[in-house]
Amino acid sequence: MELFQVLLLLILGLIGWFALTRIPLLRKMAPGPLGLPIVGSLFHLLNNDAIEEFQKYKKKYGKVFSVSAGNFYITVVTDYRLIIDNLKKDEFQGRPDFELWESRNGGNRNRGVLFCEGPVWHEQRRFVLRGLRDFGFGKESMEGMLIHELQDLQNTLRKDVGKPVNLSGVFNASVLNSLWYIVTGNRFELTDPTLKTLITLLIDNIRSSLITTPALFFFWPVKYGLIGRGTFQNSLKFRENIKKMLHNVIDEHLETYKEGEIRDFVDAYIQQIKASSDGSSFYSEEGKKNLYSVLLDLFVAGAETTSTTLQWCMLYLSRNPRVQKKVQEEIDNVIGKSRPPNRGDKPRLIYLEAVLNEVHRMCSLVPFSVYHKATKDSEIGGYFIPKQSVVFFSIYDAHHDEGYWGDPNTFRPERFLDETETKLIRHEPLIPFSSGKRQCLGETLARDTLFLFFTGLLQTFSFEIDPECANNDIRGSPSFVSSPKPFKVIITERK
Ligand code: HEM
Repeated sequence: MELFQVLLLLILGLIGWFALTRIPLLRKMAPGPLGLPIVGSLFHLLNNDAIEEFQKYKKKYGKVFSVSAGNFYITVVTDYRLIIDNLKKDEFQGRPDFELWESRNGGNRNRGVLFCEGPVWHEQRRFVLRGLRDFGFGKESMEGMLIHELQDLQNTLRKDVGKPVNLSGVFNASVLNSLWYIVTGNRFELTDPTLKTLITLLIDNIRSSLITTPALFFFWPVKYGLIGRGTFQNSLKFRENIKKMLHNVIDEHLETYKEGEIRDFVDAYIQQIKASSDGSSFYSEEGKKNLYSVLLDLFVAGAETTSTTLQWCMLYLSRNPRVQKKVQEEIDNVIGKSRPPNRGDKPRLIYLEAVLNEVHRMCSLVPFSVYHKATKDSEIGGYFIPKQSVVFFSIYDAHHDEGYWGDPNTFRPERFLDETETKLIRHEPLIPFSSGKRQCLGETLARDTLFLFFTGLLQTFSFEIDPECANNDIRGSPSFVSSPKPFKVIITERK
């Protein structure tokens, strides 16, 4: 047979397979753009802004639509009611079977919390939540530690008063340090080169998620450099470096561990490993692998998210001097200038809370949440969701639903206040930390850090946008975590 005939047969076979297997399935699923075999319909999004593209699909196909990428069927849910209701259901608590997540967790995706599912996820999530609570979350000691970080941050910023400053690296150091302290029992000086290395690694990781998102769906072409040449290797480099750092922490703790003297979260985890028996995800070597994955999850999910939200806060406030002044007046009235803020001030800083809510809404930091998977054949909004398929619950759309919010693209903190401006209004579609059983595990720490840092910074400084680097495009960079395009601020110390 000629090569041409073989090729023709292959193409016809592929079309036949597509017609027999995929078309009947696609008919039952939510409507959406018809994709090409293998490549799917998401391929052209690799270098584009998915949020923008999905708005077009939403107009054309409705609030639930489907796309495909590589081997994966994806249902995108943009209606906030459907998002909140379905995030509660057991059948949508899975995580997609991405090869990239598997290799990141040492050859078994089902480790840690973030990308894990089923009984192991339940076991790990329950332990991590309890462990973090015991070693900080929501405690007085954590507040003291965050205030210490805040004061260091204020001293760092004081050196830059009057000069254009890029805030990204500055916030990263303070936020990461708080997390490092809770988890490992140690903190770095803000000038410590190890802390700088760790930050660079984490920032690189998030930046490379621009390519790791395609790498999730098109793992093999990305791995072998057919698309996204070079960037995948960078993300591997990140992984190797951070692996070394986290293994050092684990080894050091294993060497110095003393029964009955639990110093921090890692010690508590080691105690759990020692107390476990065969069959538990904490047992023996598997337990140590889970510990590594949990630490990686906490730093990847925790450090960049909180500091990027702080960057968004400063971008919105330096672009809205009226709002900034109103927040500062409230802080002056409630706290004054002579003491640092504490969590007890929260109920009286109503306007400031409304501003934080509006920043969460506008920036929609994790626009499509962390991707979920249907663990059985199911249904959303009357459409079929096949077992193993991916579901994007669009936090961005819940936060920008025109029917609900009226003017979703306007920065207007007052929408979170009642008409007397003395009470906060709860808006159900505001779900920056997602909702349901997989709701963000670090929400308490993130909210406390944001509150204390934001209050302390505005109590001490004013922020003005640097006209030379103003960032007039306030849309986030298209990525897993939406970060502001580069901007600088000029800082003045308040009298
Ligand atoms: C402003 C800051 C943050 C935002 C906006 C945020 C948002 C989110 C979102 C949207 C999810 C996905 C939930 C889902 O799958 O539906 C998530 C999961 C998660 N977050 Fe956060 N997060 C933040 C800070 C943190 C911090 C500080 C930590 C750690 C200390 C953390 C740890 C996690 C973990 C471990 C998960 C996975 C939970 C699971 O799969 O069960 N996050 N977060």
